[in-house]
Amino acid sequence: MLILGIETSCDETAAAVVRDGTDVLSCVITSQCSRFQNTGGVIPEDAARQQVLCMLPVLHECLQKATVEMKEIDAIAVTKGPGLLGSLLVGTTTARTLATLWKKPLIGVHHTLGHLSSTWLMDDQIRNSEFPILTLSASGGHTDLWYRTSHTKGTLLGSTRDDAAGEAFDKGASLLSLPYPGGPSIAQAAEGGDPHAYEFPLPLRNDPSLDFSFSGLKTSLRYLLRDLDQSHSARPNGEAGRAHRTSHIVNVAASYQHAICSHLIDRITRALHRHPEVKEIHLVGGVSANTYLRAMLEKSIHEQTSKRTNEQTILRWPSTLVYCTDNAAMIASAGEFLIQEHGKKAYEVFETTASLPLHLAVYQ
Ligand code: KG4
Ligand code: ZN
Repeated sequence: MLILGIETSCDETAAAVVRDGTDVLSCVITSQCSRFQNTGGVIPEDAARQQVLCMLPVLHECLQKATVEMKEIDAIAVTKGPGLLGSLLVGTTTARTLATLWKKPLIGVHHTLGHLSSTWLMDDQIRNSEFPILTLSASGGHTDLWYRTSHTKGTLLGSTRDDAAGEAFDKGASLLSLPYPGGPSIAQAAEGGDPHAYEFPLPLRNDPSLDFSFSGLKTSLRYLLRDLDQSHSARPNGEAGRAHRTSHIVNVAASYQHAICSHLIDRITRALHRHPEVKEIHLVGGVSANTYLRAMLEKSIHEQTSKRTNEQTILRWPSTLVYCTDNAAMIASAGEFLIQEHGKKAYEVFETTASLPLHLAVYQ
């Protein structure tokens, strides 16, 4: 099947054409990131207005790059939620209009199911991938751990009780006066730093759930920076103190990144311990772009599985950075999997919803 995907849940306007859930014929994204670099986050009304301006040019470019005609498209898949309502409405209204005009079936996709599908994009090896799969979906709006028995079925093992992992990067970057989005800024600032220079407490260490919590890390960072500031300004020369602090930032960034990643890995390894039948572990969402996280996961899973069994658990993440962060190819792919596994039910009428509960991303 050939599916046109549309994603406008936040500050990206995206459209893509995907064949059979995996082959990306085109994937066009305009990001408003630079607009929000000085605000420390997205301004919803502003984001929605930009969506209106970008939607049609993005759609036009996407169809042109895919070199497909409207009549070849089998269905349209669009993010129905969760996200910023104004932004979501631009995407869903466009998709509904096209579906009516072109007489195509329309599929409403939960944004998280899009991320869960992103590891299948342009990855030949993954066609033979085996369930059950443990998936960590971590981005700016959500952090959740899934036990999946098929592309669209599974259970939510745990989710964040406060901030999302990406939010912890974003808020941390703001405290460190680094640009938004915080994930790439902190990863870059941390290069060459000592990840053990400063110890952060491991969140929910004695909590038996598989939930996440990041707000304590952010608070610890605030106190650490305050203490560093105080010790530096106590130096005879304020300038020298500031220079001293700058030289510490690389270690602070490395330690903070290490703390966020340690919490994510701790939850994954606990889940794997409880579900030894898991065949693969997938990392998806904006935070899955983090190379320190990937390396840490490889190391810890290698240690854990070689102790447990001779069989290696397979690790996967999206084949390119574009598929880690918000994009429309993942929405088209999820649309394909919904049709494959649920037939006509996939085309049910849906509402555009800002707060769509997380557990509804998959079927039980
Ligand atoms: O999936 P995404 O594009 O949007 C949401 O659904 O939220 O994720 C964006 C989040 C941001 O918080 C950003 O800081 C984070 O992903 N991110 C990263 C990296 N690249 C993006 N976090 C850590 N390391 C990265 N390299
Ligand atoms: Zn996302």
